[in-house]
This record gives sequence, C-alpha cells and structure tokens, in this order.
Amino acid sequence: MKNKKFAKYFREYEWSNIFAMIRNSNSDPKICDNTFDGKLVVITGATSGIGYLTARKYASMGADLICVNRNPEKSEALKKEIVGEFAVKCEYIIADLSKLDEIHRVGKELTHLNAEIDVLIHNAGIYLTNRETTTDGLEKVFVIQYLASFIINYILMDKLKSQENARIIMVNSEGHRFAAWGLRLDDLNWEKRRYSGLKSYGSAKVAQLLSMIVFDEHFQKTGVLINAMHPGAVKTGTGQENGQVYRWFKRNFIDKTLKSPEISAEALYYLGVSKEIEAVSGKFFNLTTEEEPAPPALDKEVAYELWKKSLELSGLLD
Ligand SMILES: NC(=O)c1ccc[n+]([C@@H]2O[C@H](COP(=O)([O-])OP(=O)(O)OC[C@H]3O[C@@H](n4cnc5c(N)ncnc54)[C@H](OP(=O)(O)O)[C@@H]3O)[C@@H](O)[C@H]2O)c1
Repeated sequence: MKNKKFAKYFREYEWSNIFAMIRNSNSDPKICDNTFDGKLVVITGATSGIGYLTARKYASMGADLICVNRNPEKSEALKKEIVGEFAVKCEYIIADLSKLDEIHRVGKELTHLNAEIDVLIHNAGIYLTNRETTTDGLEKVFVIQYLASFIINYILMDKLKSQENARIIMVNSEGHRFAAWGLRLDDLNWEKRRYSGLKSYGSAKVAQLLSMIVFDEHFQKTGVLINAMHPGAVKTGTGQENGQVYRWFKRNFIDKTLKSPEISAEALYYLGVSKEIEAVSGKFFNLTTEEEPAPPALDKEVAYELWKKSLELSGLLD
C-alpha cells in the first residue's frame, strides 16, 4: 500500500519553508550565557559527537550529568574527564538503546531518581545504509532514533509533570524531510518495501516529531516543555556502523562539507537553559531558530495512530 496521504502533503509543501531551512542552516546558533549550577541534565549518547560536546558544555556551566551510553569504557573515561575538568557530578547508565528491555530499565531508573531532571536530551542515534533488526525483531534505526525517546518520555511523564519545570529536547534532523511521502504506519518495520538509509532515517525522525505533538498535549498546563531540533550538519562519528565504501565516501566527501559540532552543543544549551524558551513547547528548531517541519511531521491524525502503535510495539500496554 502506497501512502495515500502523499497528495495531501504535496499540496501542503511551501517553498518558503524550504528557503527558510536553507537560510537557517547558514545561521549561527544563539548563545546563552546563563550558568546552570546544580541542575541535573540527562543526555543519551554522550560518548561521541554532538552528545559528547553537549555534555561538556552543560558541565562547563555547572550542571550535573547523567549520561545514558552503551559503552562502559567510553562512559568511564567521559566521567573522569568531566569530573576532573569541571568538578560537577557525572554519573552514567549503561544501556543499549536498541533493546526494549534496556530502554524500559533506563526509564525506570530515571523515574526513581530522588533528584528532579531539569533537562532531558534524547541524542543517541545511528544512520544505517542497510536494514538491520534488533533482538526484538524491530528495525534498528526506528528503535534507536524514535522508540527509545518515546518509551523514556512516556515512562517519565508523571515524574516530569510533578516537577515545577523540565525541558525535553529531542535531537531530530532536517533529514526528517527525506520522508517526504509520510510515515508508513502499515510498515514501520520496513518489511514490505525496499529499505533506504535516508528514508528510514527520515521516517524515524518524522515519527519522533509526530510523538512530540501528542506529548506536548499531555504536558499542557504543566511546567514541562518538549521541543525538537536539528543540530546542524556537523562532523561526528555518525555512520561508522556502515560498510567501508560508505565510510570512505563520508570521510573524503561528506565530512569536508560539515561544520564543527560545537554549534550543536551551543544550540542544545540555549534550548535547555535560555529564558527565551521558557514558554515554548511542541516546536522544531533549526539550531536555535524555530522552523516549520515538513507536512508529514505535522499530521495529527497520523500522530495519534502512531501513538497507539508505539505503545503496543513498546510493550507499554502490558
Ligand atoms: N551529525 C550530524 O550532522 C547530524 C545531523 C542531524 C541530526 N543528527 C543527530 O544527532 C544525534 C547525534 O549524532 P552524532 O552525529 O553526534 O553521531 P555520533 O557521533 O555517532 O554519536 C551518536 C551517539 O549515540 C550513541 N549510540 C548509538 N547507538 C546507540 C545505542 N544502541 N545505544 C546507546 N547509545 C547509542 C553513540 O554511542 P557510541 O559512542 O558507543 O558509538 C554515540 O554516543 C543523532 O540523533 C543524529 O541523528 C546529527
């Protein structure tokens, strides 16, 4: 079944939004100079790239950290570096965010914290050129890029609502526009179509933006803000799980066009701390500039359907 909604989305596309995206992609992020002493920031995938520099940025401004990482050695090295350099607390939870039971465990551990979570950053992600499945039989990019953030947010909803304030930031991507035809709710697992790295990445990011619509409704009239952002096109370790040809191409061509992930860290700090964001929720930012996502990421009907399917797939209905 082809996505019947493509014609609808096609009519909704506006050239002005594409030009805005190009303009915003060439802008620097706004900088927030406020310190964040004694606040607690949870960040997934802090052992590399954007997550690593974001962890350092928050720590340099006084925040304590809980990093959710898959690699124990890298996590221990990060902890030593952060504590040694910035004298803040830095704990970590080891979890493979492609595995449902480990994602649930992270959600539960965070729920049982005595401290409030001031900022929760969903950053961990991968890009795959070929379809891979997880031990739960789900398509891997969909789980790491979307379902992990969905499950953790869902489990944490009551805790975050009980706090006076909290900000959730999901590191999304302009790559959500690769899913121009919209989300295939009948094939979230990529079993019925030819797999494409760009399309599966785009679909997972669209799914995350759709989930933001519903989470934002749940958080109305609470102090919880949920936003998503594109961190810039920046040079990181992304794509290392792919084959030699892809890695050679990335190193020799793609990487040469990319910016430093310092801009992503500045943007994630601004979105997490700046007073200008105090009343902003349910929005997509290109770095720190609010932007209209592509039509498939704004479809409320699909967002509610996806919510139901995500609860089922995540085992959250049991
Ligand atoms: N780079 C860009 O230009 C760009 C553009 C748009 C959006 N993004 C998004 O930015 C986010 C960060 O990506 P990046 O570019 O910084 O890539 P990166 O350098 O590869 O960092 C990805 C992080 O995610 C972690 N991770 C991967 N799979 C995991 C798993 N199964 N369980 C737990 N952690 C896992 C990695 O851990 P290890 O250190 O153990 O590998 C690493 O810490 C992603 O969501 C990506 O989609 C990046």
